[in-house]
Amino acid sequence: MNVDAIRKDFPELERSIHGERLIYFDNAATSLRPKSVVDAVSSFYLHYNANIHRAIHTLSQEATKAYEEAHQKVARFINASSMEEIVFTRNTTESINLVVFSLFLSEKIREGDGVVISLMEHHSNMVPWQMLRDRFGIKLHVVGLNNDGTLNLNHLKEILDKEENIKVVAIVHASNVLGTVNDVKEIGKLAHEKGAIFVVDGAQSAPHIKIDVKDIDCDFFAFSGHKMLGPTGIGALYGKKDILEELEPFLRGGDMIWEVSLDKVTFNKLPWRYEAGTSNIAGGIGFGAAVDYLEKIGMQNIERHERELASYALSKLNEIDYVRVYGPKERIGVIAFNVMQKNGNILSPEMIASILDRHGIAIRTGCHCAQPLHNDFLHVRGTARASFYLYNTKDEIDKFIEVLKGLKNVV
Ligand SMILES: Cc1ncc(COP(=O)(O)O)c(C=O)c1O
Repeated sequence: MNVDAIRKDFPELERSIHGERLIYFDNAATSLRPKSVVDAVSSFYLHYNANIHRAIHTLSQEATKAYEEAHQKVARFINASSMEEIVFTRNTTESINLVVFSLFLSEKIREGDGVVISLMEHHSNMVPWQMLRDRFGIKLHVVGLNNDGTLNLNHLKEILDKEENIKVVAIVHASNVLGTVNDVKEIGKLAHEKGAIFVVDGAQSAPHIKIDVKDIDCDFFAFSGHKMLGPTGIGALYGKKDILEELEPFLRGGDMIWEVSLDKVTFNKLPWRYEAGTSNIAGGIGFGAAVDYLEKIGMQNIERHERELASYALSKLNEIDYVRVYGPKERIGVIAFNVMQKNGNILSPEMIASILDRHGIAIRTGCHCAQPLHNDFLHVRGTARASFYLYNTKDEIDKFIEVLKGLKNVV
């Protein structure tokens, strides 16, 4: 993998921030975009802008073809059987809400039924299920973590053995705080043995790990385009065809129908029955271009590169005695940490981020939309988080470490 060549595709990496070359370590929040993605989006707007699925004219046919091809690319990218199994949404959050509302509308889940999530979930895979608990009496079970930040599989097994009517197991593939990669194949097997639907939050895995939904054998897999080089406002939900066919769509209106009379409506074929109204056509086309880019580099190469960066950064961080890192050794390129002061307090993560920003280094701070994880497991109000992607380098990590070492006088 030629990182120098890859970096040339991302004009933002040429930017200087406060006089220093940008080092972008906020990839878990959103990635940068290569020129090819921006070109694909602007080409749509400049050359064949039209609404899809609705007109005979050439522009509309061209737009429809490009938008449908993007579905095919995304389907191939995660090894779905066909584009019928790929619904474009705004993001992971909307994809998970689609599952929650559609299951409920279709009465696949009712009062007294159970849903299992984990303590390491992003709010996106927690708050929608809490709505079912708070409004409709569904029981929500939370799998705990081992001390090292891995999922406690024994706890999951206990819950599945003890509780009746578990209808859904919804677990994050890769944690956006701990970097933990969960054994989704094993979790799916356990869920299916109990007859539960298995939902995977793939927001942090699809950008970094080769995904094969058939191999995982999940029923749903949710992910976002903007974390994997694509535009914002576009994401996808993979769903097994037979389940998508059985469920009722929760967004209703134009484009998702087959026939409407004043008394009755029948739904369009998959995946359009879940894509009501005018879609983010440009975003979808850009998403397809992002997938093209990632496939050209190769997901295995990307994962290898990032794991190497993560273990390099971890070993360097371990050398700094006042830095505390959270999560297991084996991880994707996400590292949450804090700087401990001599008096035992934590140096404000925001302070660390602003010092790093003065050196052109972008990281994120806060609870990263995982407040229960911070409150009930890490027992801190927030963390600083550096997260890597295919264009990052060991030299950048060296610079980051140098700045952190400079905090010696502050702590
Ligand atoms: C693990 C995880 N799930 C879900 C999301 C939500 O993604 P989006 O904001 O694109 O909906 C994120 C975003 O950071 C995430 O890291």
